Amino acid sequence: MNPQDLDPIGWAVVDDKARGVFRVHRRAFVDAQILELERARIFSRCWIYAAHASEVAEPGQYVARKVAGRELIVNRDRDGRLHVFFNTCTHRGALVCREAKGRARNFSCPYHGWTFADDGRLVHQPIPESYAPDCNSDGALNLREVPRFDEFCGFIFVNYDAQAIPLADYLADAGDYLRMASQHGAAGAGMEIVSGTQTYCAKANWKLLQENSADGYHADTTHASYMDYIKAREGSVLNLYSEKGFGRVRNLGRGHSVSESIWGTPWGRPCARAMPSFGAEIKAEMDAVFETMAARVGRERADFICHGDRNLLIFPNLVVNDVCALTIRTFYPSAPDYFEVNAWALAPRGESQTLRDLRLRNYLEFLGPGGFATPDDQEMLELCQRGYQAHAGVEWNDLSRGMATEDGPSPAKQDELQMRTFWRRWRDLLAGAAV
Ligand code: FES
Ligand SMILES: [Fe+2]
Repeated sequence: MNPQDLDPIGWAVVDDKARGVFRVHRRAFVDAQILELERARIFSRCWIYAAHASEVAEPGQYVARKVAGRELIVNRDRDGRLHVFFNTCTHRGALVCREAKGRARNFSCPYHGWTFADDGRLVHQPIPESYAPDCNSDGALNLREVPRFDEFCGFIFVNYDAQAIPLADYLADAGDYLRMASQHGAAGAGMEIVSGTQTYCAKANWKLLQENSADGYHADTTHASYMDYIKAREGSVLNLYSEKGFGRVRNLGRGHSVSESIWGTPWGRPCARAMPSFGAEIKAEMDAVFETMAARVGRERADFICHGDRNLLIFPNLVVNDVCALTIRTFYPSAPDYFEVNAWALAPRGESQTLRDLRLRNYLEFLGPGGFATPDDQEMLELCQRGYQAHAGVEWNDLSRGMATEDGPSPAKQDELQMRTFWRRWRDLLAGAAV
């Protein structure tokens, strides 16, 4: 018997700082036993992003979606209270809500007609005289709420572990990056999901997307066609690399990380970094947005929010790409070599139609499933997964780039610290560490 059969985790990550070597065993991407451990020790215990508050802003609004493999309803009841229910009838299990979003005062099960109020109470069973009058005196037949849910700057998370630490503690230093993502826009009216969800899938392991989402090393090769397009559109990209610019990666604690830069990337931002192709009118509008934000959050922070880019990775499966547009992306594996993605565009409430149009164009052009980036990235992930079919012969991935300087002041964006941050947390949780 091989050692890895006795201990499926202890051998999976080589983390040798003295030699500057970091490796991940490719079995981590293909093994069904590891996926089972991930479900039990990561997805059932970590805080998982479920919805944005703007999707359930008004009494009666709901969204229904699968979150870490479980069907949920996130809704606001008629009294304005937020709920997150398991979307399963307490009779014999059918989904009580079949629409992805809408408004409802009640959820009526399509199978036998049990009906639940928007606060979860069972309020109707057909042929009620067949049941004892107090058959629900303990509330066991009401819709069941998830063990924990909480909201942070409009981001609603759930946790399937009743003993979980508070969300704000879990987010560690990533919390302030979520706060920054909630502070865009001149109006100061908060953020909203632009209606519609993008869903797509890849024949690859879910951890490959987490690695890829803040990988600063692949842009010139994987996304060469986009870089060529930007150069052709803008004439040059070099004018944006000013002396004050920087690019770096930060370990934000608890497995979270960010890859960020200021004036360091070649695209414009709807909030609020103009490019020559946007024209003078949009530049003037963006400058005005910046000044309003500077008055509200301070000039230094507004400079960072508006003129910087950041790819935020929140362990285990939330990515906030705040780049040429602002996206929320989650993903979940249904098999070791298959995951599904849900993605949304986030935008400031009260944004002008001009900036909203530009935002959505930027979003679709680069980050959308038909854009310049996402199909190329998906192809790379699937190529990696195909490569792992040889894992018995070629066993290890290398993630050592920048390891010698990772404890220095500014690990580079092109380094792989963000992946190591993820994998160290993954290793510890799978080995049984507390979340
Ligand atoms: S399964 Fe819902 S009413 Fe029977
Ligand atoms: Fe990419």
